[in-house]
Amino acid sequence: MTAKPLIQARDLRVSFQLPAQGALPWARPRLLHAVGGVDFTLMPGETLGIVGESGSGKSTLARALIGLVPATGQAIWQDGTDLIGLSARRMLKYRSQIQMVFQDPLASLNPRMTVGQIIAEPLTTHHKGLGRDEVKVRVKDMMDRVGLLPNQINRYPHEFSGGQCQRIGIARALIVQPKLVICDEPVSALDVSIQAQVINLLDELQRDLGLALIFIAHDLSVVKHISDRVLVMYLGRVMELAESQALYAEPRHPYTQALLSAVPIPDPQLERDKRMIPLRGELPSPMSPPSGCVFRTRCPRAEALCASERPALGSGAHLTACHFPGALRPEELAIKA
Ligand SMILES: Nc1ncnc2c1ncn2[C@@H]1O[C@H](COP(=O)(O)OP(=O)(O)OP(=O)(O)O)[C@@H](O)[C@H]1O
Ligand SMILES: [Mg+2]
Repeated sequence: MTAKPLIQARDLRVSFQLPAQGALPWARPRLLHAVGGVDFTLMPGETLGIVGESGSGKSTLARALIGLVPATGQAIWQDGTDLIGLSARRMLKYRSQIQMVFQDPLASLNPRMTVGQIIAEPLTTHHKGLGRDEVKVRVKDMMDRVGLLPNQINRYPHEFSGGQCQRIGIARALIVQPKLVICDEPVSALDVSIQAQVINLLDELQRDLGLALIFIAHDLSVVKHISDRVLVMYLGRVMELAESQALYAEPRHPYTQALLSAVPIPDPQLERDKRMIPLRGELPSPMSPPSGCVFRTRCPRAEALCASERPALGSGAHLTACHFPGALRPEELAIKA
């Protein structure tokens, strides 16, 4: 028997209404389509990497799942509940099962609270009956797990380094034993030398605790080793979704290939010989995304069909929303005028 997905998202959409431009009475409010119909499943204990350029809708997608922005479509939790459109009161139950870790470690911690109070906060919110001693025991245990010294419990966030602050954020997320932790660029603000430590910690905790992780990043290299599967987003849409191994070894979507070509290769010889796939033009505005395939205006392979029909993601293990998927040929790499 196959396990039930932890989350099954179908046609998830988020649009923001922006004020009308100009003061004319017929000026209408404008819609910004931040997430334009996203489908994915997440299995219990699985790590899903979500990658895409700035503005592709990664954070908005994450926020929609926990009810921080209004969305349409479905996100069915394991117990059959649709998380989209839940009232704040009903969402509270799921907020302890779905926790978030944010990009800027220091800014996401209340400077006036001690580390002990910060880590304990979700616990006291979601388990009101716990005694003070029990809370303290759990907080110290969690500090130990994430590599903080339990005797630092009365210190304040500013006394810690960026990497340590992110460990505090992780402890705060894990203290309520969630089933899913959404990490929104958890290492982007950290020194490269510290990034690997935090990623390894998340990887280790994920395996020990059987958590599912959604790990958001700009860069495909960051999520490579931690992800079971990777979802590539562009302008609010899924371009490609596949097992990590398959996505890196045989990327099918031209956008994924372009992103991968920008990842440095550690071998200097290979790095020198590799071909960068240039993306032509600018990222289109999410106020007026291109018709058909949203990537077509920058795609070296775009044809008339790409403008008239939106490619479906399809079904199977390796999903690609492209009319003409497959490895780009050398002649396609030269930018067309
Ligand atoms: N509250 C909001 N109101 C209006 N527009 C928003 C809001 N939040 C996000 N957006 C817009 O939605 C789009 C997607 O933004 P989002 O922050 O989800 O992207 P992202 O992929 O997380 O980018 P980054 O990598 O920079 O974090 C952007 O065009 C952004 O300007
Ligand atoms: Mg973001």
